[in-house]
Amino acid sequence: MIIDWYPGHMKKARVQIIEVMPTIDLVIEVLDARLPVSSSNPLLAKLRGQKPCIKVLNKKDLADPTVTKAWVAFFEREHGVRAIPLEAKDRRDVGLLPKLCRKMIPHKGNRGQRSLRVMIVGIPNVGKSTLINTLAGRKMARVGDKPAVTTCPQQIDLRNGILLSDTPGLLWPIMDNPDGALRLAASGAIGDNAYDSAATAAAILQELIGRYPALIMQRYQLNDLTGDTTDILGEIGRKRGCLVTGGDVDLYRAAELLLRELRAGKLGRISLERPNSETTASSQDDHAGQPAPQPSSRENPHRDDSVSQLSPEQKESSTDET
Ligand code: G4P
Repeated sequence: MIIDWYPGHMKKARVQIIEVMPTIDLVIEVLDARLPVSSSNPLLAKLRGQKPCIKVLNKKDLADPTVTKAWVAFFEREHGVRAIPLEAKDRRDVGLLPKLCRKMIPHKGNRGQRSLRVMIVGIPNVGKSTLINTLAGRKMARVGDKPAVTTCPQQIDLRNGILLSDTPGLLWPIMDNPDGALRLAASGAIGDNAYDSAATAAAILQELIGRYPALIMQRYQLNDLTGDTTDILGEIGRKRGCLVTGGDVDLYRAAELLLRELRAGKLGRISLERPNSETTASSQDDHAGQPAPQPSSRENPHRDDSVSQLSPEQKESSTDET
């Protein structure tokens, strides 16, 4: 899979974060709840050092709730880290965040004390702008996420004792892991021109058939998920009328339909990654800034082998047990 990556902008964002970090009390890292490992930038863990951190598992409305719960427990094993699942547009949900900030740093941000300084970080498209707008109660102009847009950490006074430093979302994840790149593309985090939609849809369909077969069968009225994934994608296209003149299936239209419906949550609440016994917080750090050796599928901490060895029925029920 080909993914554009902007090391120049990553460097710039890194310098800005290094400059601001000493003044910060707490870091909020926004992650996509469906893929918390692939949507994190390992560099952030290094830049944050020992600062207290809240991992926001955003887009919880799209993720499998049992898996999200497992991620919260996983992240909170790390000292100084709390995790919270959120839907960034939900004011009630987001209202929990300032409360958690105060709980973690009780000696700042109250009446008579200096403001609690919080930095919000995350890769593009995880929902930082949406979250900031909900926190601020108004639409804020964001620092630029795109190359060539001047960027500098912007300070937003939430008027509740919390001062938010908004950083550019230029910290693109390290793309040395094809599974991670696939999940980012499937989740919609990556621009359409950076990947092949048919290949991405076929590969993600393979993962979905492994983890959520009942949801796929139900959504597309399929009785059988055995056989070649491209053929199954073709069958989905045929059923949904993605045809070219002459009646053959237009695989690209079928792929786009599947990806669109997956991103919109129409297949159901789906998590593309889950913690397992091999996943460690340091598995992210190990890749920071440098291309790391590519793990084999057996070593890959993101792959849930216990699930892939089960029958489709067992796999489906196992997703409820996480
Ligand atoms: P960013 O600043 O980190 O780059 O992300 P941004 O807030 O722009 O959000 C990226 C997309 O994710 C937006 O959709 C936004 O609406 C959506 N989003 C953010 N938080 C949530 C959430 O909790 N749940 C769901 N389901 N979606 C969320 P978009 O289609 O790109 O834009 P829009 O048309 O919705 O504005």
